[in-house]
Amino acid sequence: MELIQHIHSILRWAVLFFLVVNIFVFLPACYKKECQTKVKWPLFLLISAHSNLLIGIVLLVLKLKESGLKMAEIMANSAYRKVWVEHPFTMVIAIILITIGYSKQKKGHRKLNFWLLIISLILIAYMIPWAASLY
Ligand code: HEM
Ligand code: HEM
Repeated sequence: MELIQHIHSILRWAVLFFLVVNIFVFLPACYKKECQTKVKWPLFLLISAHSNLLIGIVLLVLKLKESGLKMAEIMANSAYRKVWVEHPFTMVIAIILITIGYSKQKKGHRKLNFWLLIISLILIAYMIPWAASLY
């Protein structure tokens, strides 16, 4: 469980890095010429985001089981609600936006992808529990 949490925590940097590279390096270059780069930045972003989604779901299930808390107790406590409801919910939305952006990008909708990734970056940066640990 600690290992899983650690991997989940470290992977944040991959997701943030690929988000920033896609928004500020890959997409601007894309406007000028064809989006054929040697490095597949959009795919790396998608894979890192989906991996953390999967690990996050596993973590959530394991932690909920271990704690033995009931849903009503979680909702009544703002700290529990934050990590077990708001964090997963917001991150799932952000990852859905990344996934939609990826498939739109493939169809040539670069501007839409840009804005979806911007929203995603804001949601993810906002919902990372920065106080917990940096790695
Ligand atoms: C709970 C776990 C996951 C869910 C719900 C999920 C969901 C999805 C969905 C809906 C798509 C379709 C995107 C499209 O329109 O093309 C997709 C594509 C993809 N997923 Fe995931 N995924 C999960 C885990 C993973 C993991 C663990 C990996 C890799 C480590 C991964 C890698 C990919 C890749 C590479 C694609 C894009 C394929 C392409 O169109 O080029 N996913 N996923
Ligand atoms: C890109 C998306 C995500 C990022 C960047 C992210 C980042 C983080 C970080 C930095 C932590 C703190 C780890 C620590 O305490 O050392 C964390 C904890 C956690 N995350 Fe995520 N997360 C993401 C998505 C998700 C998703 C989709 C879920 C569930 C479906 C999830 C569930 C959890 C859980 C259960 C914890 C443990 C909270 C605790 O008990 O302290 N995360 N996440």
